[in-house]
Amino acid sequence: MKNLDRRTFIKKTTTAGIGGALALGFPTILKGKPNEQINFAVVGVRSRGKAHAEAVARLENARVTWMCDVDDEIIDEHKTWSQQMTGYVPKVEKDFRKLLEKDDVDVITIATPEHWHAPMAIMAMQAGKHVFIEKPCSHNPYENDLLVEVQKKTGMLCQMGNQQRSSVTSTLAVNEIRGGIIGEVYYGKAWYSNQRGSIGNGKIVNVPSSLDWELWQGPAPREDYRDNVHPYNWHWFKSWGTGEIHNNGTHEIDICRWALGVDLPSKVTSAGGRFHFDDDWEYYDTQNVNFEYDKGKMISWEGKSCNGFPIMGRGRGSLIHGTRGSILLDRNGYLLYDLGGKLIKEEVEPQGGGAASTADTRGFDALTVNHMINFANAIRVGEELRAPINDASISTMLCHYGNIAQETGGSLQIDPETGKILNNPEAMKHWKREYEEGWEPIV
Ligand SMILES: NC(=O)c1ccc[n+]([C@@H]2O[C@H](COP(=O)([O-])OP(=O)(O)OC[C@H]3O[C@@H](n4cnc5c(N)ncnc54)[C@H](O)[C@@H]3O)[C@@H](O)[C@H]2O)c1
Repeated sequence: MKNLDRRTFIKKTTTAGIGGALALGFPTILKGKPNEQINFAVVGVRSRGKAHAEAVARLENARVTWMCDVDDEIIDEHKTWSQQMTGYVPKVEKDFRKLLEKDDVDVITIATPEHWHAPMAIMAMQAGKHVFIEKPCSHNPYENDLLVEVQKKTGMLCQMGNQQRSSVTSTLAVNEIRGGIIGEVYYGKAWYSNQRGSIGNGKIVNVPSSLDWELWQGPAPREDYRDNVHPYNWHWFKSWGTGEIHNNGTHEIDICRWALGVDLPSKVTSAGGRFHFDDDWEYYDTQNVNFEYDKGKMISWEGKSCNGFPIMGRGRGSLIHGTRGSILLDRNGYLLYDLGGKLIKEEVEPQGGGAASTADTRGFDALTVNHMINFANAIRVGEELRAPINDASISTMLCHYGNIAQETGGSLQIDPETGKILNNPEAMKHWKREYEEGWEPIV
């Protein structure tokens, strides 16, 4: 913080309206009724599932009663990790559907590949479980709609893992923007840069003996097992993943949408391609997407999967322009500039943002802990969710539009009331995926 004593500023901003659990001093764990333990099942425990488990470990009176994965090797590794990190080993279930019948599961957290996210969340809420679902919350727009519908119908809580919504400084920045500190906001730029290598050309091989490939595929049409899909690289295949705009763009596009106070756009354009390697990667390693809104506001996303050249000195971030200045924000804090580009002040995330660099794959990050605390507080005492699915799904939808525009000629007109793509039957073919028979979500 340059021009204002940090404590004074925080105090001022806090008293200016960010009350309750949003006040600085995160995390604020609200206890609810004594002895009211929240029981979690964490599904998909290789990488992101660990961030979920670690966040649960930091809650009071909460426990991961079950872990679920379809790969025995990953389960074994996670047992060791759990013992070391949390001091106990949860019970194990390989088939997610069996968790739905367990009495000692109140919450299901989902950190699997993305073709499973919405189908799992839908079944979980229908079974009376609350859901913490990783971004993106859906594989396609159809699932996005179903998810919101089921949440509404069941009344179960569903929070998406866009954890920067639980950043203290991002909240302060948005509050400042709402207060008019940079005038009328009209433009948000979001970006992500990384230097990912090639995923090669996979060979069809025997399914590893540790893996239940049938359950891994679940709702997706059946394919032979290839040696460059599981784990992680499924992100770049259309049947299971959703590409970089969902993988990382979701976060910063969501921040721009929050800062600008906008929902569905009326026009989306995209340009990009796979420039870096000739391999199995089915999405784009470079993509520029523009979202235009009826009242003239704009968001643009620049994704670079294979070129780590930073923008504004950062591998990822969001820049918001207004008629009186700009705010640059990321997971570690924000900077306020005047119209001439002069730095006016700086605010640093109090606990560190965690996983702020694009190469950072640590399981733990402070924002995820804050996000999980908010979720637990919502369950216990009705605290307002910071990324409820009816709102978070809109940011996911923006990413779906980006991919559909890229697939179908580069430009979509959208009805901002309904979200439907207008006069473009080719684009509407991407609204829903093909499901393996018997696995389509039923609502
Ligand atoms: N919010 C964030 O900052 C953040 C960060 C990283 C990843 N993510 C998201 O988390 C999700 C998981 O990513 P990852 O990097 O951990 O992937 P990963 O491939 O490393 O791990 C996925 C795990 O899910 C398991 N799995 C697959 N199908 C399953 C099923 N039917 N039941 C149970 N387990 C199953 C796999 O065996 C694997 O262990 C992705 O959607 C990703 O976008 C979010």
